[in-house]
Amino acid sequence: MKLAEKLVLAVSGKGGVGKTTITALITRLLSESGKYDILVIDANPDSNLADVLGVKITKTVGDVATGLRTSIDKGELPPQMSKMELLESRVFEILKETPSFDLLVMGRTEGEGCYCLVNNLLTHIIDTLSKNYDLTIMDMEAGLEHLSRRTSRDVDIMFIVTDQSFMGIQTAKRIKELAKEVHIEFKKLYLIGNRYPAASENLLMKKAEEIGVEYGCIVPPDENVLKHNFEGIPLTKLPSNTPAIKAVRRLLTKVGLL
Ligand SMILES: Nc1ncnc2c1ncn2[C@@H]1O[C@H](COP(=O)(O)OP(=O)(O)O)[C@@H](O)[C@H]1O
Ligand SMILES: [Mg+2]
Repeated sequence: MKLAEKLVLAVSGKGGVGKTTITALITRLLSESGKYDILVIDANPDSNLADVLGVKITKTVGDVATGLRTSIDKGELPPQMSKMELLESRVFEILKETPSFDLLVMGRTEGEGCYCLVNNLLTHIIDTLSKNYDLTIMDMEAGLEHLSRRTSRDVDIMFIVTDQSFMGIQTAKRIKELAKEVHIEFKKLYLIGNRYPAASENLLMKKAEEIGVEYGCIVPPDENVLKHNFEGIPLTKLPSNTPAIKAVRRLLTKVGLL
């Protein structure tokens, strides 16, 4: 893979299968490689990626969008600034910069009604923002909500995470089909079995073939991941030879990112 290209990676799958965990491990390994300027987007409404990455976030894009909508409703916008400029500057303000990566948390927008204007502005801003980085990594819900509003950018690699359940695989299948509906091209789709025993690898390979995606890897159940999570220690502090990290490192090497 050429480094000159700006890449977009997304991680999706059913709730609870390990999307955030895998996203955090990918982020950690790729930022440690020092090869990329990285933007991480937590596009999950139940956002907890920042915690897992050990980053403190006070405001989300949802908060900013809600604030802008309130200002529009009340007619309080400064006349010298366009809505786009205003939203852009506010999003830049909440973009969290760390030595390893920058992080944007989408969060939720409050209230009812049509968010078309704000959402369209947002799509545009995320598209523009991600072009400033070598690599954008997104933690996404299965409905691909934020992706469906993206227009100008395709996803280079979609990692679909599943557990050992039938529903996990069904959701994986659905995600592949959704791609067509939202008119986004997923250049490469890989199936990742999280908390999979080595003995089930062949089974997952077969499933990947059945639903028409490439087989990515299996990530074993990892005591260290559990322990870190239980004690609230970020996964960036995991020992570098722990089984889950080893598996994700192999995956990233295989897809040409490491
Ligand atoms: N490979 C793994 N080994 C052990 N625990 C894991 C593993 N992957 C995920 N977990 C744990 O499972 C729970 C759900 O994972 P999470 O990444 O938050 O799922 P999702 O983002 O898909 O909802 C978390 O408590 C996490 O620590
Ligand atoms: Mg999550």
